[in-house]
Amino acid sequence: MDCAVALQEVRGSDRVVAARQQYVARGVSTPPLVVDRAEGARVWDVDGREYVDFAGGLGCQNTGHGLPAAVAAIHEQVDRYLHQCFMVGMYEPYIDVCRRLAELSPCSGDEQRSILVNSGAEAVENAVKIARAATGRPAVIVFDGSFHGRTLLTMTMTSKLTYRRGFGPFAPEIYHAPAPYPYRGTTTNDAIAGLEELFLREVDPESVACVVLEPVQGEGGFVVMPEDFPRALKEICERHGILYVDDEVQSGVGRTGPVWAIERYGVQPDLLVSGKSLGGGLPLAAVTGNAEVMDAPAPGGLGGTFGGNPAACAAACVVLDEVATPEFRARSEELGAHLRERLDALAERIPQIGEVRGIGPMLALELVHDRESKRPAPELAKATTTGALERGLILLSCGLHGNVVRILVPLVASDDELNRGLEILEEALGGAAG
Ligand SMILES: Cc1ncc(COP(=O)(O)O)c(C=O)c1O
Repeated sequence: MDCAVALQEVRGSDRVVAARQQYVARGVSTPPLVVDRAEGARVWDVDGREYVDFAGGLGCQNTGHGLPAAVAAIHEQVDRYLHQCFMVGMYEPYIDVCRRLAELSPCSGDEQRSILVNSGAEAVENAVKIARAATGRPAVIVFDGSFHGRTLLTMTMTSKLTYRRGFGPFAPEIYHAPAPYPYRGTTTNDAIAGLEELFLREVDPESVACVVLEPVQGEGGFVVMPEDFPRALKEICERHGILYVDDEVQSGVGRTGPVWAIERYGVQPDLLVSGKSLGGGLPLAAVTGNAEVMDAPAPGGLGGTFGGNPAACAAACVVLDEVATPEFRARSEELGAHLRERLDALAERIPQIGEVRGIGPMLALELVHDRESKRPAPELAKATTTGALERGLILLSCGLHGNVVRILVPLVASDDELNRGLEILEEALGGAAG
């Protein structure tokens, strides 16, 4: 048989999966989905199957796949120039993103400045560098359940072994403190007490440069920080001259309703880290904050060849304008209320749903064997995401045990798309729960 005919007889996705196995390292975990195109909240695979997308390319499509105005801005930019390196020749799209980030910044201080980089991990690394330069102190405090990235420093800051196993030795001067996890009994008071103990046992607060906290933990299981925790933490920071870094790589850019989740807490961080949806699908991340802190590193201390790519910046200007509109927020809140109602109703029928949690449309289900023991049920989460994909819904799990099913639907989803996705989620979870 001739080779072309043989290839045609194999499903497109099977061919790609076989090539993936041959050429791509196994350390990058992949589902059995091969994407052909995407639009809004829908994805099509290379075999022509349509999916509702509740993952958004891992939280990078808050404004939907192919937001038309962003795509047009990218096209326009691509025709002018693709790359300059901001350190070789400045260009306005970079500065335009920084101006928008300044206008939208939740951070303390009148003047706000930013730097642009390529990934969330790179942005977290830079936030730590800036905090160290500004305070002259080495230590960094992170929290149980956190995820900050996969580089050496950020995996050390991440509290799950899957991301660290075999990759040591780890970066020094990183200290892990307890985080509130109300469903599993850790309160704000417990977490603050744990932090105070850390100051007695392991690290002098006067040598701490910054704390880094996600207001809603992403990979950690969509654990929402209780209303009083960021404020209590900020007070401790102020007492000891520690900077408060707000990691909003997953919770930001409109994911919870407001542009930044921290706005819901009425706390002003010193530095904000953003990424994921910022570039509308192109790689872009940022550190934003108080000019005095941001200007601590000397010229040459920050930067990178590709940081703030012009096409990504062109998209980010459109994305930031879009998520800052009252209409976008109103639709996100509406979407969140609708999702919450349906998930709460589902929890009444399925006893393995231990908790429905989240804020706005950033919602998740923590799955357990039973509500009394709260024993995590990762196999149920796996069966649910697998069953969902087979039925046409892209869905992700998260959490220390992998037992949390999370929803990162593009916030432009129509009611029909949302309802279709929820129906499939119900079928997949209901079927797997038995
Ligand atoms: C809160 C948070 N910080 C940092 C990162 C790292 O971002 P990236 O994967 O772009 O390096 C992530 C990624 O999931 C994240 O959720």
